[in-house]
Amino acid sequence: MPSPPLLDVRDLHVRFPTPTGPVHAVAGVSFTVLPGETVAVVGESGSGKSVSSLAVLGLLGSGSIAAGSVLLRGEELVGADPERLRRLRGAEIAMIFQNPMSSLDPLFTIGDQVVEALRVHRTLSRREARERAVDLLREVGLPDPQRRMRSYPHELSGGQQQRVMVAIALACEPALIIADEPTTALDVTVEAQILDLLRTMQRERATALLFITHDMGVVAEMADRVVVMYAGRVVEHGPVTEMLRAPRNPYTRALIEAIPTPATPRDRPMSAIAGSVPAPADAPPGCRFHPRCPAVHDRCSAEEPPLFELGPTRASRCWLHEREVHGVG
Ligand SMILES: Nc1ncnc2c1ncn2[C@@H]1O[C@H](COP(=O)(O)OP(=O)(O)OP(=O)(O)O)[C@@H](O)[C@H]1O
Ligand SMILES: [Mg+2]
Repeated sequence: MPSPPLLDVRDLHVRFPTPTGPVHAVAGVSFTVLPGETVAVVGESGSGKSVSSLAVLGLLGSGSIAAGSVLLRGEELVGADPERLRRLRGAEIAMIFQNPMSSLDPLFTIGDQVVEALRVHRTLSRREARERAVDLLREVGLPDPQRRMRSYPHELSGGQQQRVMVAIALACEPALIIADEPTTALDVTVEAQILDLLRTMQRERATALLFITHDMGVVAEMADRVVVMYAGRVVEHGPVTEMLRAPRNPYTRALIEAIPTPATPRDRPMSAIAGSVPAPADAPPGCRFHPRCPAVHDRCSAEEPPLFELGPTRASRCWLHEREVHGVG
């Protein structure tokens, strides 16, 4: 029997009020995360990755979940008491963001902030918490952790700050860590170190990881399964090895072709796909990717394809699959 999902997001819709009317930023997104697995959510800027993950945590600000369900171990989080959500954040689900400086408080030492994270959800004496904090900082590879306890965030490099964020995320031994572009602000060498750290921590503790990125190369290194998003929708999902070897959706294919190789000139722009993701209000009729799609045909601009099931663990939203799935023609 496969284990039941730790996180089960079903048909999630998120809207933001704006002066020009509501913006439907996430339009019917579903995915699951099993205990201990790494699921990557990938897509270009503006595809709805961050909004989807903030919705899971109940951190949408002015936005609201218009429909859908977010189940954590079967418990419904949509509409849950804010106090309950606050308790789950940190204790059950931890978050690591792109910019550690915006998450760390510049006025408190590293030690204070790790200790605080340890004591919020657990009854530890101050001394126990400080000892545990030093251990955690050592585990995440911060040099000279004893001394670093007394450092302020600005005294650390970006990579060291992100290590501290990993320590804070691990403090309460959450079942799930959501990491939203955790290495985008770092240089390539430090990025590789932080990815390695996350992988090691995740493996040793069997923590599930929801990893958000726009970089298919990072997906290949990190994920067990991949969810590809485009303009507020899931367009393909499946196991990482199959998806990278044989992507089915033209958008996924384009993202994979954009992975830089050692031969790629360093000054080439990140995206090899011409054009950009439409804002939710400007989403074209039919398939939202059709104006940029190399495989576009008549039907694509008229009607949006459903997410076709292409096997027990794969699905793709493209009219190209209709024949094989329904055996038409
Ligand atoms: N507070 C907000 N008010 C209005 N629109 C918003 C708000 N937050 C996000 N959006 C819109 O929702 C869409 C999805 O945004 P989101 O931040 O989830 O993208 P993303 O995939 O995380 O992109 P990136 O890779 O740039 O982080 C975008 O069109 C964005 O403009
Ligand atoms: Mg984002």
